[in-house]
Amino acid sequence: MIVVRSSRGGVLKVDGFRIRVVERLALPSIWARLKAIRGAGWNTFLLRADDVFLDMLTDSGVNAMSDRQLAAMITAQDAYAGGRSYYELVDAVREVFGMDYVLPVHQGRAAEHLLAKVFVRPGMVVITNYHFTTSKAHVELAGGEMIEIPVPQALDTTSDYPFKGDMDVSRLEELISSMRGRVAYVRLEAVANLLGGQPVSMKNIRLVRELCDKFNVPLVLDASMIDWNAYFIKEREPGYASKSLAEIVREMAGYADIIYMSARKAPAVRGGLIATNKREYYEKLVVLLPVYEGFPSYGGMSVKELAAMAVGLKEMVDESLVGSELELIRYVVEELDKRRVPVVRPPGGLGVHLDAARFLEHLPRNLYPAASLTGALYLASGVRAMERGTMSMDRARDGREVYADLELVRIAFPRRTYTRSHAEYLVDRILWLYENRDAVKGLKWVYEPPVLRFFLGRLEDIGGWGEELARRYERDLGEY
Ligand SMILES: Cc1ncc(COP(=O)(O)O)c(C=O)c1O
Repeated sequence: MIVVRSSRGGVLKVDGFRIRVVERLALPSIWARLKAIRGAGWNTFLLRADDVFLDMLTDSGVNAMSDRQLAAMITAQDAYAGGRSYYELVDAVREVFGMDYVLPVHQGRAAEHLLAKVFVRPGMVVITNYHFTTSKAHVELAGGEMIEIPVPQALDTTSDYPFKGDMDVSRLEELISSMRGRVAYVRLEAVANLLGGQPVSMKNIRLVRELCDKFNVPLVLDASMIDWNAYFIKEREPGYASKSLAEIVREMAGYADIIYMSARKAPAVRGGLIATNKREYYEKLVVLLPVYEGFPSYGGMSVKELAAMAVGLKEMVDESLVGSELELIRYVVEELDKRRVPVVRPPGGLGVHLDAARFLEHLPRNLYPAASLTGALYLASGVRAMERGTMSMDRARDGREVYADLELVRIAFPRRTYTRSHAEYLVDRILWLYENRDAVKGLKWVYEPPVLRFFLGRLEDIGGWGEELARRYERDLGEY
């Protein structure tokens, strides 16, 4: 954002870009939406994109790219080995993160797979501020366990604590000292996705680093959304207001032994990477690249994406290009909160997060309130959000249901993609849904996959409540 003084006091934040390519959208009727969500087994992952009005499933791989990124895709050098585009990526990683060894991978979970293969052995643990679905799955598939130690405020959706992504450092010290030799690494997720897009403070990263040094354990930083985390540090943390995003990102990276990221997020391409300054880690990881990803100079990515990633990494710390969607998220959260709609506070990164446990307080957890609300939101608006609650957890090994700490509906705002009128429409439809929440009666499984069940699982609306909600919608608002 370009931040200027307003003539009426305070500041004005203005988008530092203009939009030169647009995609036409179509809003399906309420009855078409009912048919589509039932056809998708009430799982928004299984909707066809053409049945969606605002696609707010994720920011992953769907951010608006820049003119310079598109230009770089055309001039990318097509080479299997030693291509110029790879060296441009290496230079960009050095400049932005200050790290010398770079391993491209095809997306974020590929980085998680390789890290788990190198560092995790059966019986070991990874200690984290909070898990992400794929990061946890890879640690568990390698025979390890992920232990989460967020600060207590993180699980209170009404708390305005500014850095709910912080790790509980006193718990960290207790855990590392009682588990010597069993801690594969400590993992910090910058903008904790499943806590409602909440940032980590620089102070916390520094304290975690000190403990990792004390106990000689590697610190791994998941930097997939580091652009947004840096924006919040600049805005909220004392001492950082006058620092640039580039300086903040460089400082964050400086505390980590290894950085990895889904480049589908902050750098707005389709790929991923691992970076480190430690040669011993690089050597252990790089031998796995040709086995699982591709030759180390492309790592399973298209060279076009590799070239665009080099540009995207620099643009993710460009003040003009960062933060537009965060201001929209802030607007929606404030509008909903004013009208007492349960939403995660404070406004974070990634998206608006509805607190489904409070929104649908009449629904018990075993009827999947977050999944029910995600489906109901699509029905009431054509907006595709993502369930981030119990459906996004897998069952325990003995088949027991594992209830999520938070039952969230994540309405993602991809970078530079949606506008203020979309945000206003979203608020309007959520308010209508809140008034009609009694019609939402819960979901039951029809097909439940054994791992990462939220991607492909199918459910059914208990007693067919979708029909009643659609009827009320038509009565109050018409067909659209
Ligand atoms: C914090 C975080 N880490 C890792 C990943 C996995 O990345 P990918 O989807 O590129 O595999 C994601 C994906 O959304 C993420 O949000």
